[in-house]
Amino acid sequence: VLVETTVPSVPGRRCRIVYRNGAPVDAARVEALCAKVGWPQRPRAKLEAALRNSFLVASLHLQVIDEEGASASTPQTETLVGLARATSDHAFNATIWDVIVDPEYQGQGLGRALVEQVVRALLRREIGNVTLFADARVVEFYRQMGFECDPEGIKGMFWYPR
Ligand SMILES: CC(C)(COP(=O)(O)OP(=O)(O)OC[C@H]1O[C@@H](n2cnc3c(N)ncnc32)[C@H](O)[C@@H]1OP(=O)(O)O)[C@@H](O)C(=O)NCCC(=O)NCCS
Repeated sequence: VLVETTVPSVPGRRCRIVYRNGAPVDAARVEALCAKVGWPQRPRAKLEAALRNSFLVASLHLQVIDEEGASASTPQTETLVGLARATSDHAFNATIWDVIVDPEYQGQGLGRALVEQVVRALLRREIGNVTLFADARVVEFYRQMGFECDPEGIKGMFWYPR
């Protein structure tokens, strides 16, 4: 459990946000999350393949809780509020993709927790070269967690189909 909070859209309703690594994540819910932050829609089948073939999929789920603090949600009724995934050669390298937190839950440390948990999970598997691509507006977010832009002058290079 990362946070106990209230649901902004349902006053008085208590809930908590739980982190899971490797839990099944529904592509339709990921699509909905991406749409919420304005990312362009990707073909559903390709998104499903990307999730299935990722080395690691970390997710944040909103659970409604009752007065006793027990979960009143089932995995089916939980809301997906965050995601990060990593691809890897399973030995030396991993790249983090699709780091996203639902705008309603941003600004309370969830994005940082998500990325830190992913990095920790990779280090536990002795994968020490962790890379990612950052939009200009989130460079600072990653820098705060120890990511560096082009360390030692190593420049990423890109090839796009024309
Ligand atoms: C980027 C994102 C995942 C951050 O999630 P979040 O839950 O709001 O982040 P946190 O609350 O954990 O923030 C951690 C720290 O980073 C800072 N931060 C968060 N977003 C930032 C941003 N866009 N630029 C600079 N700093 C940022 C916070 O102020 C906080 O700093 P503090 O610890 O000094 O208070 C979220 O804004 C998001 O989903 N954005 C849209 C998708 C996106 O752009 N993803 C990145 C793809 S490269």
